[in-house]
Amino acid sequence: MTTIKALILRTLALTTVMSPCGGEDIVADHVGTYGTNVYQMYGALGQFTYEFDGDELFYVDLEKMETVWRLPEFNNFTIFEARSALRNIVMAKRNLDILIKNSNFTPATNEIPEVAVFPKSSVMPGIPNTLICLVDNIFPPVINITWLYNGRSVAEGVAETTFYPKSDHSFLKLSYLTFLPSSEDFYDCRVEHWGLEEPLLKHWEPEIPTPMSELTETVVCVLGLAVGLVGIVVGTILIIRVLRSGGASRH
Ligand SMILES: *[C@@H]1O[C@H](CO)[C@@H](O)[C@H](O)[C@H]1NC(C)=O
Ligand SMILES: *[C@@H]1O[C@H](CO)[C@@H](O)[C@H](O)[C@H]1NC(C)=O
Repeated sequence: MTTIKALILRTLALTTVMSPCGGEDIVADHVGTYGTNVYQMYGALGQFTYEFDGDELFYVDLEKMETVWRLPEFNNFTIFEARSALRNIVMAKRNLDILIKNSNFTPATNEIPEVAVFPKSSVMPGIPNTLICLVDNIFPPVINITWLYNGRSVAEGVAETTFYPKSDHSFLKLSYLTFLPSSEDFYDCRVEHWGLEEPLLKHWEPEIPTPMSELTETVVCVLGLAVGLVGIVVGTILIIRVLRSGGASRH
């Protein structure tokens, strides 16, 4: 297959580094990335995001032509004209066409994504929680992340982020699944990517302490306490004996 799977063009329109104190040894403590424009041939897909200190502020839904804030609260502070994002994407597409020709149609290299699954908060039986599937080192940004619940595909309670741009030009994406922890259940995050020979399943199951192990813990604790107390009593008796014998020998 000689077709180009994906070729990507990403432009950091402007990166501002601000420092409150100026001078020579400047520590860049805030970074705003104003407009990460991504366009790729595969599926004619584009993505437009704004970040601040590595966190996404918003992305522009290029189909609905609307700005989607990561935190809805920001919606009230400021607006972003979605149309200007489309202008950038059109420009990125034009530049990509030129680069494809100049690079003699060399296809992009597929990276191997890294997957980790963990709960949002500590797991308590019967307390609703969220499982997070973190997929790192994604390139090109074409991926399917799905969830399996006890081995069966699940679509309800699933949400995912856009592709977060990284400094090494790969991407990171998070998928979320709301769940009710129970010791009998297990979950898998399923990842499909061109860098993988077959879909990758990352297994996760809750580690809910069984009543038995809690009992064991209690027994160990009580025994430990008893041994400690016996030690104190025996020690005290010995000290008293030594003091007495010392006192007696002085007579
Ligand atoms: C933002 O504005 C909307 C109405 O436009 C309001 O319902 C919402 O409570 C506001 N949110 C915050 C965090 O101020
Ligand atoms: C994602 O899933 C769709 C539909 O099943 C499939 O056509 C596509 O090839 C998958 N993408 C990847 C990267 O595996």
